[in-house]
Amino acid sequence: MRGRFITVEGVEGVGKSTNIAFIQSMLDEKGIPYLATREPGGTELGEGIRKLLLDKNQHGMTAVTELLLMFAARAQHIEQVIEPALADGRWVICDRFTDSSYAYQGGGRELPTELIAGLEKLAIDNYRPDCTFILDLSVETGLSRAENVGEKDRFESEQIEFFNRVRQVFISRANEDKRFHIVNAAQTLEQVQTEFRDILIPLMDGYRR
Ligand code: TYD
Repeated sequence: MRGRFITVEGVEGVGKSTNIAFIQSMLDEKGIPYLATREPGGTELGEGIRKLLLDKNQHGMTAVTELLLMFAARAQHIEQVIEPALADGRWVICDRFTDSSYAYQGGGRELPTELIAGLEKLAIDNYRPDCTFILDLSVETGLSRAENVGEKDRFESEQIEFFNRVRQVFISRANEDKRFHIVNAAQTLEQVQTEFRDILIPLMDGYRR
């Protein structure tokens, strides 16, 4: 049986890493093999692209260039890592995927949605996750949680309005398709994990290697 492709999304500081670790622990418990990866990145080439994308000194990068680099890294990631793992029956847990391009480059940078949709078709043939968690939290709370962690990258240096637009796109996309689950990240960690568990258990029960 094919593995399942799970992505976790949200604005900075919503607790993606903690919840990805929780998903991994659930899969470990069930003995389901998986691969945890991230975007932009996940391949040697993709990690090189990630460095360029996050580099604060890349002042002149245009929004279109940024979008193309996201999809360049993604095309490589799917071909080299994600699809082989899924075909082999392993699950893939990915920290961000195409929904982040709609949210950050579409919402944040205000590129037209049609441009992103066109590229999604052209570059990756509309390759999509089976299940996407959107961790949702007010931008103020998220940013204050994220603040303590190291130096700010090129995205983290953006203004609050940018992140509010990012958040709105995540929410509006989530309301359009059943693959999404919005999880209120303002709850206690225990409540958040209960929601993850309730969604993941039926998926895991339906899976045989
Ligand atoms: P990530 O490592 O998840 O950063 P953080 O843990 O700070 O949320 O992602 C790196 C940055 O890349 C993040 O600020 C969002 C941005 N990004 C996009 O703008 N578009 C995309 O398509 C992806 C995958 C990420």
